[in-house]
Amino acid sequence: MGHDGQDDEFFAGLRADDFGYLDATRQVYLDHTGATPVPRALVDAHAARLRGAAFGNPHTESPASAASTELVEAARRRVLRFLDADPAEYTVVFTANASQAVKLVGESYPFRGRTGPALLLTQDNHNSVNGVREFARSAGARVRLVPFSGDELRVDGTAVRDALAARRRGLFCYPAQSNFSGVRHPPEWVERARDAGWHTLLDAAAYLPTGTLSLRRTPADFVVASWYKVFGYPSGVGSLVARREALAVLRRPWFAGGTIQVVSAQARWHRMAQAPAAFEDGTPDFHSVPQIATGLDWYESIGADRVARHVTRLTDRLLGGLAALRHPGGRPLVRVYGPRGTEGRGGTVALNVLDPRGRIVDERIVARESSAAGISVRTGCFCNPGAGEEAFAITPRLLRRTGSGRGRADTIDGYIERLGLPSGGAVRVSPGIANVADDIDRFLDFLRDTFAAATPATGALAPRLSC
Ligand SMILES: Cc1ncc(COP(=O)(O)O)c(C=O)c1O
Repeated sequence: MGHDGQDDEFFAGLRADDFGYLDATRQVYLDHTGATPVPRALVDAHAARLRGAAFGNPHTESPASAASTELVEAARRRVLRFLDADPAEYTVVFTANASQAVKLVGESYPFRGRTGPALLLTQDNHNSVNGVREFARSAGARVRLVPFSGDELRVDGTAVRDALAARRRGLFCYPAQSNFSGVRHPPEWVERARDAGWHTLLDAAAYLPTGTLSLRRTPADFVVASWYKVFGYPSGVGSLVARREALAVLRRPWFAGGTIQVVSAQARWHRMAQAPAAFEDGTPDFHSVPQIATGLDWYESIGADRVARHVTRLTDRLLGGLAALRHPGGRPLVRVYGPRGTEGRGGTVALNVLDPRGRIVDERIVARESSAAGISVRTGCFCNPGAGEEAFAITPRLLRRTGSGRGRADTIDGYIERLGLPSGGAVRVSPGIANVADDIDRFLDFLRDTFAAATPATGALAPRLSC
C-alpha cells in the first residue's frame, strides 16, 4: 500500500476513534479553519489529569501551585519545540486566542506620530490583525496596505518589497495562510522585512492546522496562534510566540496581577516583570494551558506532514469536484475565489453558489440548506473584508463613499445594498484532520442535489447582523 492508501486507512481509524460522534450524528463537518472538532482522546486526557491531582493558582509557592507552574512552563517549552524556536531567542506568552495575542502587540507597539514607526498590512488579513490599525491611527502613525494582484487573491512580492523600502519602518503584519482563500503567503517575506529593518507579525492562526513553521528558518518577531484550530481542544488558549528582543521594544499600557515585579500603591510607581510574565494579565488558564502540550503531543503523534498530505488530497478532491459541478445547461454551479489548484495554498476554499443564469445565490440560502442537511461550513465575510472586497471587485472609491459621510450605511445589509453586491459574502469549506473523502463527496452531492437546475425558494431571510 502506498502513502495514500495508508493515510486513508489511518484517517478512517482516527475518525472512528476520536471523531466518531460526527458519524453517530450524521454530520459533515467542513469548517476546520473555524475550529477543529474536539478529539475524544484530548478530553479524556484532560479529565484524567484533573481527576488525579491538585492544581492551584500558579502565582504562589504551594505544592498545588508548583504542580500548575511546572505544567505551564512545560507547555511553553512544548510550543517552542513545535515551532522549532530557539528558547534563547524566543518565548511564549499564553493568551486566550490569536486575537488577544495580536492585541498585546498592537497596543504596546511604539507607534508615535507620522515620523515614528509605521504599520504595514497586506490587504489579506483577518479583522483581528486589521484592528491594529486603530492603535496606529490613534498614535498618528502611518498605515499602509499592500493590495492583492492577479486573480488568485495573492499579494505580489514586488509590491511587498516596495512597501518595505518605505522611509518609515515599523510593524509588518501578514497571514501565513489566508483564512478566506487558503492562499499561503511566502514565509520569505519575514526575512526580507527583517533585512529592511521591520518587525514582522506573522498570523499563523489559519496556517498551523496544516502547515509546519520553523522559526529558525522564518525568524518572525511575533507569531500568533489559536490552538483549538490545530487540535480542537481546549478552546480559549492561544499564544504570542515572540522574539525576546522584539518584546523588549513593546511598552505595555497598564499592569495587572502577575505582570509586576514591584509596585507601590501610594507612590504610584511600578516595575514590570520579565517577559513572558509581563504580558500575561492575571491568572493564566492553568487548567487549560497544560493541555496545549498534550494537544501538540497528540497532533505530532499523527504527524503534521501526514495531516498536511491528507488535507491536500481532500482539497484536491474538493476543487476537482467543484469545477465539475454544472447546471443542466452546462453553466458552472460554483465560483471559487482564490487558487483553483492545490499549489501554494492550504485547505481553505471560498466559493459562491451560482444559479442556472450565472447569478450568485445569497449565501444565507446556502447556509440554510446546508444546515438542514447537517453540513457545517462557514458563510458570510469570514472576518476578512479585504479578501471579500477583492473577490467581489469593489473599488476603493465606492468603499470610501459607502463607509463615511452621508452615504454611510449603518447595517451590514444596508452596506451590501449600497455597494450593489449580489450577496453579503461567500461560503467557506475547509477540510481538515477530522475528515475522510466521503465528507467531500457528501458536500458535493448536496450542492448538486440542492442547487443544480433551480435555486430553492428564497423565503424570508434573516437580516445579517455582523461581518
Ligand atoms: C488567519 C486568522 N487570524 C486570526 C484569527 C483569530 O483567531 P481567534 O478568533 O481564535 O482569536 C483567525 C480565526 O479565525 C484566523 O483564521
